[in-house]
Amino acid sequence: MPKAVPPFPSKEIFKAAERLPPFPEVIWKVMSLLRQMAPVSEIEAVIQYDQAIAAKVLALSRSAYYARRYSIGSLKDAIVALGDQELIQLVMAACSARYFEPEISGYELREGALWQHSVATALISDTVARRLGKKKALTIYTAALLHDIGKAVLSFYVKTYLDTILERITRKGLQLLDAERETLGVDHQRLGETIARRWHFPPEVVAGIGYHHCPKEARSHQDVAAAVYVADQTATAMGFGCGVESLVGLYDNRIFDVIGISSDMFQQFWADIIVAMEEIKGLLCDKKAIFGERS
Ligand SMILES: [Fe+2]
Ligand SMILES: [Fe+2]
Repeated sequence: MPKAVPPFPSKEIFKAAERLPPFPEVIWKVMSLLRQMAPVSEIEAVIQYDQAIAAKVLALSRSAYYARRYSIGSLKDAIVALGDQELIQLVMAACSARYFEPEISGYELREGALWQHSVATALISDTVARRLGKKKALTIYTAALLHDIGKAVLSFYVKTYLDTILERITRKGLQLLDAERETLGVDHQRLGETIARRWHFPPEVVAGIGYHHCPKEARSHQDVAAAVYVADQTATAMGFGCGVESLVGLYDNRIFDVIGISSDMFQQFWADIIVAMEEIKGLLCDKKAIFGERS
């Protein structure tokens, strides 16, 4: 059984994070073209430049989640039919797939499962974001989508030291993050924050990722981190994101104050979440959209 490790492999882990390919430029290009109200053909050309992203945008837009509202046969249909916000969200999700889709075996997540969890968290965060006003919706969606990006790198090391990590969770009662830190010298939350900063995401997205397990500790943008926390915990509770993450504790109800949900609003909030989940399942359970053509 692998034993406690000091000296921690954290230096090596941060180096591995530096080797992670940059976030695809296509997202910034699409945003800029939409701002300029560029012709559809220009937006289509930018998305099509990366075949994998274009295929993913098409697969997602054809899922039952969107098919209820739109009839999408081609990439052009998707660009025309979806509003700017929905198109950006969809391209963002397609861009993130390459980091999340592989098996994340350290966290006992099969191929596609971390991506499913990330998309679930992002879609649920939209319902949470409504409480904070539309202006923050894209920020919260982005942070929610990428909140577990640290796992894409840390998985390899977690796998090597999984016995030690699990022992610390089950015997010592540590939370997952504490067990990661005590064993590896860094946790997936801190690593995710580093990656998001390196990818030049704005500070509010970086904070949302860097405090998604402990929003109250964020010195700024607590509301973004709290929204991601609630969405993450909800996705996990709904069964989207099991694996080792499910060992993380239950909701800390005090976090709801940060996003302006008082205890007498809980009932309505959960009713909204349940309605949203019914729609969201149309995407999350679409095997072709989530797990690709091979499924
Ligand atoms: Fe996490
Ligand atoms: Fe998560």
